[in-house]
Amino acid sequence: MHETPDFLPRRRDALAFLLASGASLCSPGFGFGAEQSARPAAAPSKPAAADRTAPLLKDVFKSHFAVGMAGDVPGNYSERELALVREQFNAVTPENCMKPSLVHPSENQWRFERTDAFMNWCVENKIAFIHGHTLLWHHQTGDWFFQGDDKAVVIQRMKSHIDGLAGRYKGKIRSWDVVNEAIDDRGDARTAETENLRKTGWLRTVGPEFLTLAFQFARQADPAAQLYYNDYGIEAGPKHASSMVLLRRLLKEKAPVYGVGIQGHWSTRGIPYDALDRSIADYASLGLKVAISELDVTIAGASGGQLGGAGGRREVRPPTAEELQAQADAYAKLFAIFVKHKDVIDRITFWGLNDRRTWRYGQHPLLFDAECRPKSAFWAVVEQANRSIRPAAASR
Ligand code: G3I
Repeated sequence: MHETPDFLPRRRDALAFLLASGASLCSPGFGFGAEQSARPAAAPSKPAAADRTAPLLKDVFKSHFAVGMAGDVPGNYSERELALVREQFNAVTPENCMKPSLVHPSENQWRFERTDAFMNWCVENKIAFIHGHTLLWHHQTGDWFFQGDDKAVVIQRMKSHIDGLAGRYKGKIRSWDVVNEAIDDRGDARTAETENLRKTGWLRTVGPEFLTLAFQFARQADPAAQLYYNDYGIEAGPKHASSMVLLRRLLKEKAPVYGVGIQGHWSTRGIPYDALDRSIADYASLGLKVAISELDVTIAGASGGQLGGAGGRREVRPPTAEELQAQADAYAKLFAIFVKHKDVIDRITFWGLNDRRTWRYGQHPLLFDAECRPKSAFWAVVEQANRSIRPAAASR
């Protein structure tokens, strides 16, 4: 059932105002503070004060799915950035602080300062949906987990890691990435018929059952949490086929998998829209939910979720108008697919906050620019919600 939003400002009016004013949503006094979260009652024909308030993603997509961001908040985020998180998003994922080597650097050492600060901020700011990332990974995982190569010992370490982390935040974290990126990047017609698991310490010491065990341990640690398998590139090609083989096996082994996170690290130069559309339906056919868990669409340079592709803090070339338009078009097509599958998709999370708070710095991948101003892509995304709710009006 859809609610008819009465608060969506006319896109062109609002955008024109923003561009003309040069106003930043991170600037004090602009429209994202709690004090200004009231929406305009109707779409006025000339710029009025109410136009300054951009629609809020979490409200616009309220009847579709949660909309999230990733970041180790509050960290060194500015007040305005934190306000942007609070106002625009209703789901938050810790970008790094819950990764194994950061929170559990050695067997008898836990570092909960950052994770506790993250959780406290989310709870204090009433973030409804906290998604945990990630219990098991091959990267940022101390070698100590695998020392001795003894299967039983490694399984015990895995269990106490999952107990220690998921157990600590039991009841507060709605969903977890239980296993992240277990499928190999190199795939072909032959591997497509197999799980094609990445050669990691987990696979070497425990064998393929490490995934089932991880899901079972997570279920024991927090019985109410929704448990995800999360990966990049699984929407298309041999990696998608392998993900289906893997998930079928996990379900057969009674691993409590709730959903699949399609990370969504894409680029305007090529997004497999049709495959993505089909892959969401494929996962749904297994009885699973889907999250788009790490969304970004770069307009230059590398893309994909593989490590080592991040831009770094180099000199940044501003995006051209054409690049911004191509990005807006790409986001519009993506959200048209997401909206179509809203019954299957629980959450869309952007990987970062704005074009400054992103692992793809310099590649301008998100909906807000470095100064927190909404980009064309923001309005394109909002328009997809508008269309799905009022198709006739939107197509006029
Ligand atoms: O914490 C250290 C800091 O002490 C040190 O001074 C600094 C020097 O470079 O490095 C800091 O660690 C960095 C860490 O992010 C925290 O900022 C690492 O070098 C850097 O490699 C790490 O990158 C993260 C990457 O995962 C690897 O863990 C990115 O921020 C993060 O966005 C990225 O996220 C992954 C998802 O978890 C899984 N899917 C793919 C996605 C993109 O690679």
